[in-house]
Amino acid sequence: LASLPHDSSFSGLRVVVTAGPTREKIDGVRFISNYSSGKMGFAVAREAADRGAKVTLITGPVSLEAPPGIRRIDVQSAREMNEAAESLFSETDIFIGAAAVADYRPAEPIEGKVKKGDSEMEMRLVQNPDILAGFGAQKSARQLAIGFALEEAGGIEHARTKLEAKNLDLIAFNTFNGTDSGFEVDTNILTLIGRGDETVALTKLTKEAAAGKLLDAVERLLPRKAK
Ligand code: CTP
Ligand code: CA
Repeated sequence: LASLPHDSSFSGLRVVVTAGPTREKIDGVRFISNYSSGKMGFAVAREAADRGAKVTLITGPVSLEAPPGIRRIDVQSAREMNEAAESLFSETDIFIGAAAVADYRPAEPIEGKVKKGDSEMEMRLVQNPDILAGFGAQKSARQLAIGFALEEAGGIEHARTKLEAKNLDLIAFNTFNGTDSGFEVDTNILTLIGRGDETVALTKLTKEAAAGKLLDAVERLLPRKAK
């Protein structure tokens, strides 16, 4: 059966994955968002389930179907995603932040539809909660926090800074070049950065294959199970 786990390396582990974009309400008919398709996060969720994990996928609006056997929670805004995630923090073994969470939201979303005026318009934005950093800040020694960092070429140092600032165990630096890595494409070029000096530069892979490599690296961080 296709839905049965292929192996059991993540058996008994509760994995939470965030995926997709968030939508930040401007008014009743408009929002701020980004081009995230959700493909990377969904591929990671599927891969974890295939390895026997109990997976919860918290996703913004995407046009993807969750693989069978995965618990899916649909949200719109960063604050909704944060609320759903936070409620699971204490029962999460591995938290993987693959969502492209909007960093800012309109300070005062407007009910109904804003009418066009006859001059410029200004909109004040306020910062959204950092979901992954929230998990990293409260996690215990047995919990793993995994992130992504979408940076333009050469941003590997930024990715390393995020790894430390958010107290992560591993970060996947995602080269953004618009054609074969990043949003809305089927491939990614990832560099996996851990807490030590070790980095693993992957070649251009499908998002499914990249998810496999990422989870191989996560598996190496798992405490060795007594056999
Ligand atoms: N992330 C999150 N909540 C946010 C912003 C980011 O959980 N409000 C997570 C993303 O899912 C990703 C990681 O943090 O795993 C890094 O996201 P990224 O946008 O690359 O970094 P930021 O810290 O937001 O910094 P910047 O956008 O300025 O590069
Ligand atoms: Ca960001």
